[in-house]
Order: sequence, then C-alpha cells, then structure tokens
Amino acid sequence: KGDSTLSITVVGASGDLAKKKIFPALFALYYEDWLPENFVVFGYSRTKMNDEELRNMISGTLTCRIDRRANCDEKMSEFLKRCFYQSGQYNSEEHFSELDCKIKEKEGGRPSNRLFYLSIPPNIFVDVVRCASTQASSTSGWTRVIVEKPFGRDSKSSNELTRCLKKYLTEDQIFRIDHYLGKELVENLSVLRFSNLVFEPLWSRNYIRNVQFIFSEDFGTEGRGGYFDNYGIIRDIMQNHLLQILTLFAMETPVSLDAEDIRNEKVKVLRSMKPLQLEDVIVGQYKGHNKGGKSYQGYTDDPTVPKNSVTPTFAAAALFINNARWDGVPFLMKAGKALHTKRAEIRVQFRHVPGNLYKRNFGTDLDKATNELVLRVQPDEAVYLKINNKVPGLGMRLDRSDLNLLYKTRYTREIPDAYERLLLDAIEGERRLFIRSDELDAAWSLFTPLLKELEDRKIAPELYPYGSRGPVGAHYLAAKHNVRWGDLAGED
Ligand code: BG6
Repeated sequence: KGDSTLSITVVGASGDLAKKKIFPALFALYYEDWLPENFVVFGYSRTKMNDEELRNMISGTLTCRIDRRANCDEKMSEFLKRCFYQSGQYNSEEHFSELDCKIKEKEGGRPSNRLFYLSIPPNIFVDVVRCASTQASSTSGWTRVIVEKPFGRDSKSSNELTRCLKKYLTEDQIFRIDHYLGKELVENLSVLRFSNLVFEPLWSRNYIRNVQFIFSEDFGTEGRGGYFDNYGIIRDIMQNHLLQILTLFAMETPVSLDAEDIRNEKVKVLRSMKPLQLEDVIVGQYKGHNKGGKSYQGYTDDPTVPKNSVTPTFAAAALFINNARWDGVPFLMKAGKALHTKRAEIRVQFRHVPGNLYKRNFGTDLDKATNELVLRVQPDEAVYLKINNKVPGLGMRLDRSDLNLLYKTRYTREIPDAYERLLLDAIEGERRLFIRSDELDAAWSLFTPLLKELEDRKIAPELYPYGSRGPVGAHYLAAKHNVRWGDLAGED
C-alpha cells in the first residue's frame, strides 16, 4: 500500500550471508520494482559502523541483471540511500529499542510493516527474537521474522527452538527458509507435474523405478569447518534441502496452491516414511589428495576441525514412502562436498518397457533403454528426458537422445537468485515456500535416530579423495536396491 512503510532489518548485517545474498537480493527486488514505494533497509550487528560505512560495504556486492544494465548506477545509489545501520548487542533490549526509534524516524509516522532477517548463528536466534519482538515490533502492521537453518540439530533441540520462538512469535510470523525451495527448478517441479498431462499419470510406482536426489559440490568446507563439524552433511543438506525436494516430488495433488494445502501434503509424505536405519545409509569423509600438481587438503586438515572427527562430508541414503503411490520405490539421496563436480539434480528412472519390441537392440542391458527424466537444478538449469530414438538410416540402430529444455537457450532472462523469491514471498506473506513447524518436526523425526546412532557409535566414514566421485559404498547402497546412480552412468 502506498501509505505504509516496509522496514527490513538484516540482523547480522556484517556477516557473509548478508553481504553475499541478502543485500544483493533486496537490491535486485528494488531494481525490478518489486519492493513497495516506501521501504527502508536496516543493517544491525555488533560491528561499529555508520550508515555510510554500511553502504560502502554492501555496494561492492550489488549487481544488476545483464538485460537491464542501463540505469544500474542510478538505481544502486537510490537503493543505498534507503539503507541505514544500527549497531548493538544481540541480547540487548535497550539496543533494539534504539533500533526501533531509528526505524520509526524513517517510517515518518506512516503505518509500518516490519521484516527481520536473522542472518546470525542459531545460539542467538532466541535472544534476537525476544529483543526484536518486545522492542522493535510494528505497532501498526505486521512483524515477520525470517530464520535460516540450522533449526536445531535433532528433534529435541529443534522442538526446543520452536518452543522458545513461539514465546515471542506466532507460527505465521515465523518464516523458516530453506533456500532450495526458492530455486527456479524446484518451483518448476510442481508446474511440470500438475500442468502437463504427460507426467502426472506416470508419477507412481507403476511407472517409476526409482528417484534420485543428488547434491554435489566441488569444494570442501574450507573456512566453515567450525560450523560444519557440529552438523555434518546429513543435517546440512539432506534433512532439509533434499528432503524438501523429495516431499514436493512425491506429494499428492494439493487441494489448491494455497500454502496450507501444499504444506499439508508435504507433511503427509514425511509421515508416510520410516525413520532411517543405519543400513539405509553410507557416510564418507574427504581426505587430502594431490591432483594435477596441486594438493587439496582433507577435511580433518582444517585447523578448525578436530583431527579425529568422524563427521560425514558425504552421505548416501535410501528412503521409502509407505503409501499407495510409492510403495517399494527407492528414493535415493546423495550429498557430498569436495567431489569431482558441482551440481544439484533430480533424476527419475522409469521402468523397463514391458515386452519391448526392440529389446535386442539394447543387448542384455535393458537399463540402457529406460527413460530418465532429469531436472537439473544447477548449474545450467535444464529439464531433459532421455528417450530411445532411431538413428537415421536404412538399418535399425537405436540410440539414446535427450529431449532437452536447457534454460539458457530457451529463456533470455537471467534466473533470479533463490533469496530474491523467498524475500519477496515473505514480504507478501506467501508461506508456500517456508517450512511449517510440523513439517520441520516430521523431517527431524526421520533423521534423528540415525544421527544419534552414527554419533553414539562413532561410525567411521569411508574416506574418499578430494575431487573424486565419492565413496564406493554409495554404489553398493544403490545396487542393494537395484539402482544405478544416473549421474555416474558415463553419460549425463
Ligand atoms: C547451504 C549449506 O544450506 O547450502 C552449504 O549450509 C551449501 O553447505 C549450500 O554449500 C549450497 O547452496 P547453493 O545454493 O550454493 O547450492
């Protein structure tokens, strides 16, 4: 509304996430005219800085979309003029009350809505929420708080965090981010399923043999070892990013696109799954490796990581959804750091064609003939379907080809960063892409017993060289369920 002001406070403004993601995303929204006419951005952290210093700090990280560069500098300086800074302690009600005065001053007496983005370590979430909600809430509009994982490290600590947050906030004021839900291809998953006739009828155990959710990064935990060692890859990637994608993939058709309808369906998927057992999982950890004259450090070579750490930097898991649609279909996950490539994708392997007339063209390996649908979330966003095709000519030779929707050749627009979509949704009160507390709870229930067992028994991870394809155990786990990893099949 033209007569109200939106104030966005980035708590932890001097941190990495704020600099790399939050301020640039806010600027991108401004640049594309998505923000309301009256808005102000506040940075809050302990570092002493003035407004000008904050502006200098963030100006280096703002970029304009390539397709609309013309007025970039002008837009940037307009945006920076709306950015202000307040320093203070995270647990000081007095400092938050000073922030409140400063925000009020900029709001100029108009009704206000306030959004707080907590870009801070989890141990101070509750302090900040207490101070912000008691001292700096809006008295004339809404107040919302965006929090980012880790939401605890198991069921108990996550419930405790939710309980403490709810002392100061109602459920619909809490926006729990999983930034994978803001990725273009993840959003597109539901569009593909529910707006095309050709996919949904195949979306079940009748036609799908297995589904794979793959995350790999070609760098280690350099610089983040201290944080990572307390969490490990299962908490860092699987319990949230990959599991979220899985629920969207597997859910029943929601009653509508309304946030509650979608989240209800996602929770049902989680509740139809059994908690993971040790035998459903393999864990790995990268070790140092020399390659091409360069040497890469192992995970435990990081001075912030204990030498005897058994924290997994790689894990593969097999999950099952015990409902009518998915009974018996393996849902495999694989996530790892310091692997040979950086990518995130969903791979759907279909069943063999019954009584395939062209069977002999594939020799003994019918797997080579199965259709596979791939949603490549990043890099080079794409949706492609592997099909069998006749090689042109007089003989009868078949080969595998891709029906390929490669975004960069199909669309000229740059794809927005996940944080842009999520910030915009939080501003607009759209909760579809945020995690509800019962969803979080159900997600932790699946992983908590496994995590406890891994830790109690100090299960040693299988070591794999930095830059490799990961531990061989991942193949055995897949083979146990008659699956081959699609990303390692030699052809992408
Ligand atoms: C974060 C994890 O949630 O996601 C990081 O904590 C990981 O370990 C990151 O590197 C990956 O995000 P993206 O968007 O770069 O794929």
